[in-house]
Formats: sequence, C-alpha cells, structure tokens
Amino acid sequence: MSSYDIISKTKNGIELTDEEIRWFVNGYVNGEIPDYQLSAWLMAVCFNSLSDRETTALTLAMCESGEMINLSGIDGITVDKHSTGGVGDKTSLIIAPIISACGAYVPKMSGRGLGHTGGTIDKLESIPNFKTELSFERFIEVVGRAGFSIISQSGNIVPADKKIYALRDATATVDSIPLISSSIMSKKLAMGADCILLDVKLGSGAFMKTEETAIKLANTMVNTAVNAGKGCRAMITNMDEPLGDSVGNAIEIMEVIEILKGNKKGRLYELCIDLSANMLEMAEKGNAEECKKLAIGAINSGQALERLRLMIELQGGNPSVIDNYSLLPQPKYSVEVLAEQDGYIAGINSEEVGLIALKLGAGRATKDSEIDLSAGIKLNESVGDYIEKGEKIMTLFSSMENDFDEALNMARKAVMICQKQKTRKPMVYNIIY
Ligand code: URA
Repeated sequence: MSSYDIISKTKNGIELTDEEIRWFVNGYVNGEIPDYQLSAWLMAVCFNSLSDRETTALTLAMCESGEMINLSGIDGITVDKHSTGGVGDKTSLIIAPIISACGAYVPKMSGRGLGHTGGTIDKLESIPNFKTELSFERFIEVVGRAGFSIISQSGNIVPADKKIYALRDATATVDSIPLISSSIMSKKLAMGADCILLDVKLGSGAFMKTEETAIKLANTMVNTAVNAGKGCRAMITNMDEPLGDSVGNAIEIMEVIEILKGNKKGRLYELCIDLSANMLEMAEKGNAEECKKLAIGAINSGQALERLRLMIELQGGNPSVIDNYSLLPQPKYSVEVLAEQDGYIAGINSEEVGLIALKLGAGRATKDSEIDLSAGIKLNESVGDYIEKGEKIMTLFSSMENDFDEALNMARKAVMICQKQKTRKPMVYNIIY
C-alpha cells in the first residue's frame, strides 16, 4: 500500500478498500504520512467525493483512532443529538431535559461557537461555576443520575478528526459532504449512544444553504450510522431566521429556562417538541403521536425543568439561576433597534444576526477569542409580524464599552420589512430515515 496509490485512486474516481482507508488514516495520525499527502487526498475527495462504503470506512477509522465511551453501565436507551449549527440554536438544552424526563438518556458532547454560529458549551458556561470538562467516569455518572450530561470535547476522542480538521481548515477542504459527515459521525459514534438524531440546518444561517446539499449530507450521515449499527434519523430544519427570540449565551439560557417552565411557546418550542418526539420514538417510547404527547407532558409537569436543575447541580453549577436570572452574567450596555418604516417583517437574516452577536462580543472570531457571556440580542419581532415605524425590533446587549454603531447598521440591514405579509416557511422540511 502506498499514499501515492491511494491519492491517485481517489483522483481517478477508483474506490478505495476499507483496509486502504484505515491504513491511510492510521498512518496520518501516527505521523508516518505527511500533511502534503493527506492534503492532496482531501482535495481529491472534494472533487470526486467518496462512496457511502468509503465514507463509512473513513468514519470508523477516524472513530477508532482514540478513546470510545462505553455506555453499557447505563440502564436504558441512550440517544445522542447533533445539530449542524445555527444562530440562536439552544435546542439541545431544551431537548435533553425533556428526553431524560421521559425515561431515555442523553450523553452529549458539544462544541463551542465559532464565527456566526453559537455553541452549547459557551451557553452553559454562562451558568456560574458550571463545569463542561468532566472525566468520562463522572460524565457517565451524571448521565445515569440526571438522565443527561453535556460536556465539551475533551480527552482523546477522535484525535484523527482534530488533526484532519485543522488540515482541512488550512487547505480549503472543509466543504465536502463525505469529509463533513465523517468528521461529525466519527465523534458521534465514539460517544457510544444507541441512537442519534441529526438536526441538519438549512438556510441563511446554516452551513448548508441549499435543500439539495442538506439532503445529501443528511443521507450520507444516516447511512454511515446505520452501517455502523446505530439507529439514526435526520431532520432538515429551517435556519432562515434565528431560533427563538434570543441570540447569545446567558440570554439563551434564560430562554431555555422560560421554555422549560412552560412560559413560552412559539416556533422554537414547536421545533423542540418535534425533535424530542423523534428522539423518543428512536428510544422506543411509543409511536410519533405518543412521543409528542410525552415531550409536551415533560414540560407541562415541570419534570424536564427539574432534570435541568439536577444536571446543573451535578456539573458544579449554581441551579438557583433557574429561579433568579440576575445570577447570570448581566450586560452593562444596551441599544434598541427601531423600525424605520411601517410594514410586515419579511425576513430576519440569521447569518447577519449571528455576525451582529459576534460583533457585540457574544461569539468567537477565532478559536482562541474571549467571549462576553452577557452579550447578545433580544428579538422583539419575528417574521410575519406587523410593525410600525419607531417600534422596537430588537435590543443589542454587551458589556464591552462598545461602539454600537456598526452593530446597529448591521441590525437594520438584517431585518427586511415589506408591505405584504409573507407566509412563513415550516420549521421541519424533511425527515430522512
Ligand atoms: N462540524 C464538524 O464537526 N466537522 C465538520 O467537518 C463540519 C462541521
């Protein structure tokens, strides 16, 4: 076997064997294969793609490059969830307590925000003293007791992805479906859950901008999981406008708690119920209708909120934030964005809103940037609402002595107002089994 032959085969559209893929990945992780050969192969994959079998082999080789979590000590069905990333995407923090209140378990490793998209870990870190780095023993213990745990990417989970992702980032080879799929699914498989729900975001604030690519990515990931013996489904969901009415970190934790208290309904709530129902169905808790009722019941009974309280406590955080939001980081400054004309809100560009949040300090421009956990955006209006000139559309928050002018300009451009009411697109476009 040689790296040269492997690169050449992919360049010429000839399928690799599983052994070749394993040899190549292991050789790269061990430092025997240089960056320039892997880079050449990654570029060949970008142009010629990989078959489903090759993508599965690549995913498994990456997954086996490091530690894999053994969840056999958990007495019940474990369901993981992954979102391809969005703006205001706090769904995991709402769904995981719902699922655990309904008797299944959610062991979840989440990421930090980068660029215009937020990260669940940053949001959780706005809870005073909350620990996102746990040993795997403690992680499994928290899953067993609270029904879910959310930790940051730690330990030696999929070292192959860390190394290959850094190379992809530097060689313009990130946007390839088999490479994205193997990167995501290798980490999901290493976490060891029985089933996986994939939330593939589609729209202005998402990685995937067209329905065709979103469906292709979803199919590739589902096939990989099924080939690896896992239950899996993917939901293609709307990311054309921010999810919910808050974007940031502490501000999103407040919205999560309000939803779990049953104080807030709307499109984010509906989406979370749909995602939860699909996870519960995979966890064999009933048919689609029964699972939807279970998810709604978990909020109405207050049990999901109690699961969140317990998880916060077990991960060292202050659970009193649930009853007293002033314990969360508070912004020092705020500016209101007012409508410049009467009309209907025709669109709120979620990518732009994510970039405004970044500008305010709520996001990270580079991996090492510090973030302002109190910064963010509160949206007062959503698509379809009628608004009069001078009414508040959103409020921008920050604790940095910010020049808000640029953020204000961006905010005005992010909201489209028109004279005719537009019909809103659905939250769930498609489900791939
Ligand atoms: N998220 C990942 O984890 N990997 C990718 O390649 C893209 C998004």
